[in-house]
Amino acid sequence: MCGIVGYIGEKDSKEILLKGLERLEYRGYDSAGIAVRNSEGITVFKEKGRIADLRGAVSGDVTGNTGIGHTRWATHGKPSKMNAHPHQNTSDRFTIVHNGVIENYHHLQRDYLADVAMESDTDTEIIVQLIGKFVEEGQTTQEAFSKALQLMKGSYAIALLDAEEAQTIFVAKNKSPLLVGLGEGFNVVASDAMAMLQVTDQFVELMDKEIVIVRKDSVDILTLAGEKVERAPFTAEIDMSDIDKGTYPHYMLKEIDEQPAVMRKIIQAYQGENEKLTIKPEILDALQTADRLYIIAAGTSFHAGLIGKEYLEKMAGIPVEVHVASEFGYNMPLLSERPMFIFISQSGETADSRQVLVRIKELGFPSLTITNVSGSTLSREADYTLLLHAGPEIAVASTKAYTAQLAVLAILSAVSAEARGRELGFDLVQEMGIVANAIQAQVDMKEEIEQLAHDYLSTTRNCFFIGRLMDYFVGLEGALKLKEISYIQAEGFAGGELKHGTIALIEEGTPVIALATQESVNLNIRGNVKEVAARGANTMIISMKGLNEDGDSHVLPPVHELLTPLVSVIPLQLISYYAALHRDCDVDKPRNLAKSVTVE
Ligand code: G6P
Repeated sequence: MCGIVGYIGEKDSKEILLKGLERLEYRGYDSAGIAVRNSEGITVFKEKGRIADLRGAVSGDVTGNTGIGHTRWATHGKPSKMNAHPHQNTSDRFTIVHNGVIENYHHLQRDYLADVAMESDTDTEIIVQLIGKFVEEGQTTQEAFSKALQLMKGSYAIALLDAEEAQTIFVAKNKSPLLVGLGEGFNVVASDAMAMLQVTDQFVELMDKEIVIVRKDSVDILTLAGEKVERAPFTAEIDMSDIDKGTYPHYMLKEIDEQPAVMRKIIQAYQGENEKLTIKPEILDALQTADRLYIIAAGTSFHAGLIGKEYLEKMAGIPVEVHVASEFGYNMPLLSERPMFIFISQSGETADSRQVLVRIKELGFPSLTITNVSGSTLSREADYTLLLHAGPEIAVASTKAYTAQLAVLAILSAVSAEARGRELGFDLVQEMGIVANAIQAQVDMKEEIEQLAHDYLSTTRNCFFIGRLMDYFVGLEGALKLKEISYIQAEGFAGGELKHGTIALIEEGTPVIALATQESVNLNIRGNVKEVAARGANTMIISMKGLNEDGDSHVLPPVHELLTPLVSVIPLQLISYYAALHRDCDVDKPRNLAKSVTVE
């Protein structure tokens, strides 16, 4: 949800900022801007649209070895050049970029800035105007920044330039992620290490409510009270090849293709001595103590949670509830006596999930985060973390992180089952090997799957996914994928439920994609397919070998029944990809979305 960067050093900052912003586009891409400082002052360039559009607007004639930049996902004020960051105060002395939402911006405007004419519709401008006002009243920039931070409620990651203090970028964060990267004779600021890997792999994590004074050869971290904080840097362990598209036309296709390797990597990462799957004993103990697990997640991660419930209940015998994060915090159900919370989040930054984590921590309940990003907010703030080991996922639509979530949930469930003395009846390591091969077989069938996308989805405005048991949950994910990137209105339904209302929408040619991988309901789902076919639907059945029938559109290789979602989702990911491609949609950066949603 918006990405920010900063550079202070010897070189011209423009290209470093623009490259950094390109790496952060997954966080938002409706408008962007940079501010560059040189001896003549601060020059701001901004543009509606992508970083590529901003590049066109940046003048090569202006150089400056200090700068800040921003790529935006609009919250306050529509996407426009006027609302794009950086924002300046009325005198243009202060320039700011901000990621987050200032919840009390109206009150701050009313109480402190009633006489100031605003140039944008953003909450961000309030911050920079406040700082300008406090400085006019006699405070130093640092004092004014600190005072503004203390008045602000909400989330923020901020980088601030002062035209009269050329050698400094002022930085602070609360709830939104922000790192300072360290170099020889320069330092940088970024929402995500990925943005600045081009210049350094040494980063210092910032904590909430600190002020950081970044100069070209020093970084001073201070509390709001002005006390100095020492913090050692860490090395960002991200491979540049992980974040490069290589020869792929889109990150999404690359990430779909990476899934067999990700499955093998996860198994290795969770294998201990004797190649046995292991989970830290303290996590197992916490699970053992709990009488009910509450999975909290959003979007694709929520869909993974629905399958996680099946795994944890069926393998480990622990009762589980799955909740949409944005609802749970404000409408908490009656909890069991000894609840434990599992947060599933690819990014580890989702604000909807974090608000639940904050609440349940206040209530003293234990928490585990399953995430792809070590050191992310949800990881840091939960008691325990399990990493996905999927490598950076850059396409906005989640693919490999979803299957990685399922794999880690399966491992957690299997190891917990063993800790509870429950017989699994199968060897998960071996079965996951079969799954990895089955996924490989799917990604090798792109032409066949592209043809399905063409035959069923090239002209339709809507599409339904049906399935029973776990196929239902995979159908929900298939529908989300399709609508996210192709803008075809798609909905997932339990096979038996469609006839209770939604069947009214079936017309001649309406595509209905059915999954048939669950033996106990194979006949039932086929009955449901017949019901919609009788009403004109254009039905596609994706079945599992052994349960397949003549005329099925696509047959998956057989895998253990519990692990079928890991395989059946692959053709759905590819169908969405090709449907989006055929419609000329921007596959990796679908409209209105962002990958990391750090606002509630
Ligand atoms: C956003 C993304 C979705 C994602 C959801 C949850 O809405 O566009 O693709 O599933 O956030 O994100 P998380 O990082 O918590 O898994």
